[in-house]
Amino acid sequence: MKKEKKPIGKKQKPFWGSYEKKRPPSRKIIEKVEQPPHEKVAWKPGNMIYPLPVVLVSCGDLEGEHNLFTVAWTGILSTDPPFCYISVRPGRHSYDLINRHQEFAINLTTKSLARATDWCGVRTGKELDKWSEMHLTPVPAKKIKAPVVAESPVNIECIVRETKELGSHVVFLAEIVQIQASRDYIDEKTGSLNLEKAHLIAFSHGKYYELGKRLGNFGYSVEKKKTIKKRRTGGS
Ligand SMILES: Cc1cc2nc3c(=O)[nH]c(=O)nc-3n(C[C@H](O)[C@H](O)[C@H](O)COP(=O)(O)O)c2cc1C
Repeated sequence: MKKEKKPIGKKQKPFWGSYEKKRPPSRKIIEKVEQPPHEKVAWKPGNMIYPLPVVLVSCGDLEGEHNLFTVAWTGILSTDPPFCYISVRPGRHSYDLINRHQEFAINLTTKSLARATDWCGVRTGKELDKWSEMHLTPVPAKKIKAPVVAESPVNIECIVRETKELGSHVVFLAEIVQIQASRDYIDEKTGSLNLEKAHLIAFSHGKYYELGKRLGNFGYSVEKKKTIKKRRTGGS
């Protein structure tokens, strides 16, 4: 049987009714209520994938031409074989060096390398020795002739396998042929690399950020609670 609706008496005023009486809603409140929850604004197509890594790319095979420049348009493309890319504007001094020698190294950047990372991205190696200006140490790579940055926690040596011209930028598709990781971040017992201790930085919409709080480990969303607890407490 259907229940009869009680007529709204004095005591049962609708919420908004009593609210309106006490304090008429301001324009601001009305707008807030009327807006859909995820309203978007149309934005011009462009660079909007963030956050990005921001790395120092070292290049130039010959003594006296070793250079460094900052790259945010970079990423991994394949695990096996390990492939990555950097996207470079042909006007860059570094572009000529990479194009000529077909190799480069990606050096991960940290909080303490943040200033040098920005600086190497706004000055050209055509006129300056960025290594000495930023007090960075070039050390020999293992598989390529371009040097790597000693102060960076991870150096990734790459050989260009393919070049793709896209317009403003040219993409160097490169095979990762060697990685050097700083012993400071390697757990002696397990042999694992604790990169969270390196204070890596990222780039997002024109700003640099130090990586912050860890939200979870790979696959944590499907992990059993017991396993998570075990890992947190270090239990076996
Ligand atoms: C945060 C940041 C990210 C950058 N990312 C790229 C990039 O992905 N590709 C590129 O060609 N230039 C990039 N640049 C610009 C070059 O690093 C910059 O033009 C540099 O001065 C080139 O140095 P070079 O003339 O010694 O080669 C970036 C600069 C900054 C500051």
